[in-house]
Amino acid sequence: MGIDLDEVRAETPGCQGGVAHFNNAGAALPPQAVIDAVEAQFRLESTIGGYEAAERSAEAIERFYDAIAGLIGARRDEIAYVENATRAWDMAFYAIPFRRGDRILTTTSEYASNAIAYFQVAEARGVSVEVVPDDEHGTMSLEALEAELAKGGVRLVAINHIPTHNGLINPAAEVGRLARAAGALYLLDACQSVGQLPVDVTEIGCDLLSATGRKFLRGPRGTGFLYVRQEILPDLQPPFLDLLSAEWTARESYELRDDARRFETWERYIAGQIGLGVAADYAAGLGIEAIQDRVSGLAARLREGLAAKPGVTLLDRGEHKSGLVSFTLAGHDSGAVKLALRERGINVSTTDGAHQRFDDHAVPSAVRASPHYYNTEEEVERLLAALPSP
Ligand SMILES: Cc1ncc(COP(=O)(O)O)c(C=O)c1O
Repeated sequence: MGIDLDEVRAETPGCQGGVAHFNNAGAALPPQAVIDAVEAQFRLESTIGGYEAAERSAEAIERFYDAIAGLIGARRDEIAYVENATRAWDMAFYAIPFRRGDRILTTTSEYASNAIAYFQVAEARGVSVEVVPDDEHGTMSLEALEAELAKGGVRLVAINHIPTHNGLINPAAEVGRLARAAGALYLLDACQSVGQLPVDVTEIGCDLLSATGRKFLRGPRGTGFLYVRQEILPDLQPPFLDLLSAEWTARESYELRDDARRFETWERYIAGQIGLGVAADYAAGLGIEAIQDRVSGLAARLREGLAAKPGVTLLDRGEHKSGLVSFTLAGHDSGAVKLALRERGINVSTTDGAHQRFDDHAVPSAVRASPHYYNTEEEVERLLAALPSP
């Protein structure tokens, strides 16, 4: 069943104000249900007290774990609530007991924060960071990955599902099969894919997965989550502990929780947690396949329209393309294009080549337009028409 565009737009206050929001890879417009949930909890906190409000909303807080687990095919005890995708990823990455000589394999389109973390750990623990080359489409080469895995010593394969600067989709499930066969851990940065297309941790075969709330899931800012496969949990030591992630069992001893919540902290943005649970339920209610269909259809129309424009260079690689459309416009600085569009009520963002040092194809700056299912075909045409001439 397709998405009822009128209905989802009516349920999105941001769609009422005339702005055409094509920065969903930055932060999407939340639906009314999410706004209501966040506002109600904050109001309750300010009326009866924060701790008292949390007690009263215990069910909605717990719902978060079921909603996220249901969305990605996990178990509720494999989900941790974390404040953003970067910290979710960090908590997983820094928990891996690397040994000197271990190898980390990643991809050319890796997210900057992840790359920085690799090099910090490489320096501190004597591991190597190796970037697996692309295939002819620009996604991670499975042949090259298999060859690297066969050499041995790979502790971790860590890639993004969809990069931030480019419309490619990495072959997450194929990478999962190879990593599992080689006995390597597999950490998937699914920040841009959860909420945009089906993500099933069993099908993908990842051990760890990080995601954010505010992008394609349409949750509140300052929210995210981490998935940790139950079987690998005993091998992971969170880099930070508190009285929720561990129990102080005797004067000088403690015990870690035995579920993924060993990666959480006690204090958290409760309203955001409830809101993210509502956002996950909202996405599931529409159907992730229907969301993917509409996002990819709008992105395809946008790419088609851009390709027909003089001076436009489309930068998206990959055989299968995501909803992130990146391009440059000859004779125009990408930041200036963004501002010119903003003046006409159209939101896009820009990419930064300094954040893409593994990617030989990355440009210093590009325009990134990322539609969501609530965008209209008319908005796509509006964006195309509003681009300055070369
Ligand atoms: C591929 C990818 N990974 C990770 C992140 C970081 O997410 P967050 O800003 O929620 O920490 C982003 C954000 O744009 C991203 O695009």
